[in-house]
Amino acid sequence: MTVQYVQYKGIKFPPGYNSVESLSFAENKFEVQDDDIFNVTYPKSGTVWMTEILSLILSGGDPAWNQSVLNSLRAPWFSTQLGLETAHDSPSPRLLTCHLPIQIFPKAFFTSKAKVVYTSRDPRDIVVSYYYFTKMCTTYEDPKSFNQFLDSFLSGDVPHGSWFDHIKGWMELEGRSNIFFISYEELKQNLRGTVERLCHFLGKELDDAAITSVVENTSFQAMRRNKMCNSTMLPKELMDQEKGTFLRKGICGDWKNHFTVAQSEYFDRVYQEKMQGLNRIFPWEQT
Ligand code: A3P
Repeated sequence: MTVQYVQYKGIKFPPGYNSVESLSFAENKFEVQDDDIFNVTYPKSGTVWMTEILSLILSGGDPAWNQSVLNSLRAPWFSTQLGLETAHDSPSPRLLTCHLPIQIFPKAFFTSKAKVVYTSRDPRDIVVSYYYFTKMCTTYEDPKSFNQFLDSFLSGDVPHGSWFDHIKGWMELEGRSNIFFISYEELKQNLRGTVERLCHFLGKELDDAAITSVVENTSFQAMRRNKMCNSTMLPKELMDQEKGTFLRKGICGDWKNHFTVAQSEYFDRVYQEKMQGLNRIFPWEQT
């Protein structure tokens, strides 16, 4: 089935909840509050994982909110029509989610004290995760093959735009005190330590027992059991659970099971070229 994507500032967005109006509103008119906390990612980088972590931190480790309220209501996607309404009705401090690149992010943020948590991930694992995700999601075009999808990903011709532009744009804000950069790989390696650092960043110090609760309730297995975040509550018209599982594998390095040697070499060439000059070593570059 052909999907008519929404085009906004040269980037295509999945139709349905996104529209030119909702994206333009998010960029130009969205009112940012000083205690807003934005969960920003490129797709498949651990967005839903971070929503669970942030919700639990705000709840002081009590899992009741995470287990009784849908993630999209706890941390609304404010750049969509539906999410904007939820965001307007949310009490502060608000958790807000988006995949927006920096150039479309709410202008009001830059003169506010609001905070951003930006989660990155090995782009090779993103492309694998994204490939499976697009197959089960009706608002995304079905990829013809993994090779075709990889090509589109590397040229930036996928919904939400180029991964390279996204991360490079956001990395320009590195060093600001209201932005916290973290990677999926660091979350996997040291979830507890990362939760502690996040608490500190958010000014929400939790005791050991509360931190243990955050860690336990955000494990891959716990999240898979929680209907409020495992996507099984989404209607089949949006996500066909027979075609895949949203919380699919939850591991680092699954790309090794999918890339051929030629694809890996091609990926490395494009990566070197596009990431040139970025003075930073990401966790996935060390493996
Ligand atoms: P995989 O498809 O590789 O399993 P997003 O929320 O940005 O769409 O990202 C989804 C990816 O994050 C999926 O990756 C999903 O399994 C993974 N994920 C979500 N929660 C996780 C957790 N608690 N631990 C590890 N991975 C998690």
